[in-house]
Formats: sequence, C-alpha cells, structure tokens
Amino acid sequence: MGDGVIGNTMGFGPIVEGSSPSPPAINFEMNVSGVILAAGKGTRMKSNLPKVLHSVSGKKLISYALEVIEDINTKYVVVGHEAEQVMEALPESLNFVIQEEQKGTGHAISILLEDKKFANDTSEYILVLPGDVPMINSNDIKNLIKKVTDSSSTIGFLTSKVSNPFGYGRVIQQDRQIKIVEEKDCTEEERLVDEINSGIYCFEKEFLLEQINNLNTSNAQGEFYITDLIGIANNEKKDIVIVQVEEDSIRGINSMGQLNEVEDALLKQTIQQFMDEGVYFQDPTSTYIDSTVKISAGTKVYANSHLKGETEIGPDCEIGPNAQINNSKVGQGSKVLNSVVDDSIIDAGGQIGPFAHIRPGSELGENVKVGAFAETKKSKIGKGSKIPHLAYVGDAELGTGVNFSAGAITVNYDGKNKHKTDIEDGAFIGSDVMLVAPVTIGKESMIGAGSVITKDVPSKALGIERNNQKNIEGYMDRKKKND
Ligand code: UD1
Ligand code: CA
Repeated sequence: MGDGVIGNTMGFGPIVEGSSPSPPAINFEMNVSGVILAAGKGTRMKSNLPKVLHSVSGKKLISYALEVIEDINTKYVVVGHEAEQVMEALPESLNFVIQEEQKGTGHAISILLEDKKFANDTSEYILVLPGDVPMINSNDIKNLIKKVTDSSSTIGFLTSKVSNPFGYGRVIQQDRQIKIVEEKDCTEEERLVDEINSGIYCFEKEFLLEQINNLNTSNAQGEFYITDLIGIANNEKKDIVIVQVEEDSIRGINSMGQLNEVEDALLKQTIQQFMDEGVYFQDPTSTYIDSTVKISAGTKVYANSHLKGETEIGPDCEIGPNAQINNSKVGQGSKVLNSVVDDSIIDAGGQIGPFAHIRPGSELGENVKVGAFAETKKSKIGKGSKIPHLAYVGDAELGTGVNFSAGAITVNYDGKNKHKTDIEDGAFIGSDVMLVAPVTIGKESMIGAGSVITKDVPSKALGIERNNQKNIEGYMDRKKKND
C-alpha cells in the first residue's frame, strides 16, 4: 500500500506505507460536506428495486456509505431513479437533491452544485461517495480527508491494485500525467492497468465550481464522467493525492454476482472479527451472519447457522447446528439447536429445540425450555416454564414454572379474532389439552390430560373435561369368536 501527491508544486510526494490503522486526529466534519451519489438505475442488477436499496448482509446498500459519513455535518444524497422510494427509505435529515435524468456521475455533481440546498454550503471540501461501495472503511475516508486538507491539494481519491480490474475505471499514470479511463474507453494497453478508481473522492469545492461545466460527453457511454475531473486538474497543474487502500474496501456492486462477492467478503470479515473476540465457529463456510449481528465471547456457533438482522447473541451460548435466528436477542448460556427464532427475546439459560419455532413477539424468561416440535407466537413465558414437546403457545402469557405438556395447545383463533390465554405461576397443563381462549388458568392449578378447557380454572383447582372411561370386560375374546 502506498500513496502520494502528484502535482506541480509538490511533485511526487513521499510514498507512505499503508493507510492509517487508527483514525488520524482531525476534526472529521470540519470544512467537509459529504455527498452520496445514488441516482443511477443500477441497470446491471436486472432488478426493479433501486440498486442502493438492495439488502447487503442485512443492511440497505446505501446505509454503508451513510454510516461512513455519519460524523459529517452536512450530507447530501443525489437521487433520481425511483427517487421517492429511495428518499422514503432514508432518514429525513439528509439533504436530497434530485437528478431527474441520469447523465453520469459528473452530471450528478453538477446537479448538486446548482441545487438551492447547496447554495448555503459553507464547506471548503466535498467528499464524494458512490452509493454502491459498501465495504468502505471510515479510517480510509478520514485518512483521505486529512491528506487532502493537510497538503491543501485540489483532489484526493482512493484507489486499489486489484487482481481483476474489469469494469472499473483505471488509474493511468505516466510521466507525472494522471487520468482515469473507464473500462469502456480503455485502449488494450490501458485495460491491463491493475490500479482502479474507487469512486471515492475529496474535492476542493472551489475547483468543482470552476470546472464542473468543462466536462463533456465524448466517451463510450455518452455520459458526463466525474472521473474526467482528475485529468482536468492534472492539466491545470493542481495537486492530486492518491491513497491506495485494500482491494476489498472499494468493491462496488453493479450486478447480483458482485453483490454475492461483497456479501462473501463482508461475511469473512465479520466472522474473523468475532473469532478475534473469542467466538467459536465450527464451520465458517456454512455460517451466514449479517453485518448487523452482535455475538459475545464464549459463544459457540455450529455449522449451518444463519444469524440475521438485529440479532444479539449473549455470551456462552450454543447456536446450531442448523439454527436460524432473525432479529432476536438470545441471553447468556442459551442453546438454540435445529430451530428457527424470529423477532423474539430469549433470556439467559434458554433451551430451544431441536425443531422448535419461536415466532415473532415471543418473550421467553430465564431458563425457559421450548423443545421438539413446539411453537410459540406473541407470548410471554415466565422464568423456568417448560414447553418440552409437540405444543402450540400463541397469544398467551405464562407465569413462572408452568409446565405445558406434550400435545397441549392454546386455541387462540376463533376464525375471526385472536384471543388471549393466561396461565398463572406453577400451573400444570396436562397432555393434549386445548385451552380455548380467552381463558385464565389459575396459579398452581392442574388441567387433566385431554381436556378441552373453555372456562377459567381457579387457583389450585383441577380442571378436567373428560367423559368417564368405560372398560368392557372380555370384549376381545367375544370379538374373536364372532369373527
Ligand atoms: C464508477 C467510476 C469508475 C469507478 C467505479 C467504482 C465514473 C464515470 N466511473 O463507475 O471509475 O471505478 O465507479 O465503483 O464515475 N450515479 C448517479 N447519477 C448518474 C450516474 C451514476 O447518481 O447519472 C451514481 C450511481 O447511482 C452509483 C454511482 O453514481 O451509486 C456510480 O455510478 P455507476 O454507474 O455505478 O458507475 P461505475 O460504472 O461503477
Ligand atoms: Ca458502480
């Protein structure tokens, strides 16, 4: 990794090893406004959804760029294709600028500069990010801003040397001349250059205002390219800073194939980070974890586990094999084996599965067990309660220490409305019981196996609803004779 300053006054700057490992001590937001370009259609995605709204490892593609410029005070987003949909999906605090017709990245910048929202902009520098480069790292951005502002350069941009530069703009440097040439405009020779443009730039605002109207569309795509500003600055003998960064950090997403590549790379990063923090993985190649997920040290994640969305796994848990956990919290020491957990909370010591389905709105207290072929939905289940097998608990509130035996269910739906079942502390629900809601089962009561309970059961009572059993003596012998 190296970087340097190219220009008339400074010549080639010193090559500095690597980009800063820790953020440089600068006031990030000082003097710098940020703009994310997100107006493009994303034609190569072959999808109706605007590109920047595609989910990448559990987050909208554009959220990654937004996070990176979080500390910048003034943020603009250029939207165009499906602008309404994109704006609706993003925070209102952003300054949206509409690029009605998408005539290229340079055109997007000219639209920004002409917009009345930009008229009061007080910054000296403009940081430009594409909306489709999710692995950008904020240290690299801070480093870029620092290098440009410290050297009072006109432009700085991030580049990377990559194994497969196909599709990216190439950074062509010759005899102190520098320009960016798009894949489609490259000569055979230029195509072999392996240093690519990230699409991430820090521009002096004055320069942008002066030169933006000097872009033209004489290129293979007939678009105004922001990248031509590099060549223009070079011709004007302005100082240009290049900061080389890791290949992964500037991977762009233009197609489903690249979306998959980025998710792969993000996943590797995420798992490596968790391993560094003391999380065990049996098989990272069959484990899928969104970049939004949190896992604490001491937890073991077994093969074929999928952890998605805003999921948080506490310490010392055992997850999987074959666990799928979406937007849920799992407390310390819990086990989730061969089960699906959606939008729920499991307190410490939970034992889930094998083959349980914890559906949205389940809140399981400490040491709750939900075992094989049991399902819970929108229910609060108190500390130490057990639903060990073959049961359904929906729209219910169970106190502490409740035993909910095999085959028992809450009959929560009358075909029109959902009703609630209340089961108080220490109640024992026998096997194959139907609790027809709304109904309350009192504290420390017992329900006889096979009962269909339609009336409340008082505390400490036995609720039983069952015909008397008849035994017909000698029946089988008589039957045999008649056969
Ligand atoms: C761009 C760069 C290329 C670089 C690559 C890095 C240009 C001409 N090329 O190519 O050098 O290697 O990014 O990923 O800039 N957009 C608009 N309005 C438009 C066109 C695009 O807002 O009129 C937005 C897109 O939504 C996207 C970003 O600008 O977020 C980049 O556009 P895209 O078409 O993806 O450019 P690339 O071909 O990837
Ligand atoms: Ca792109």
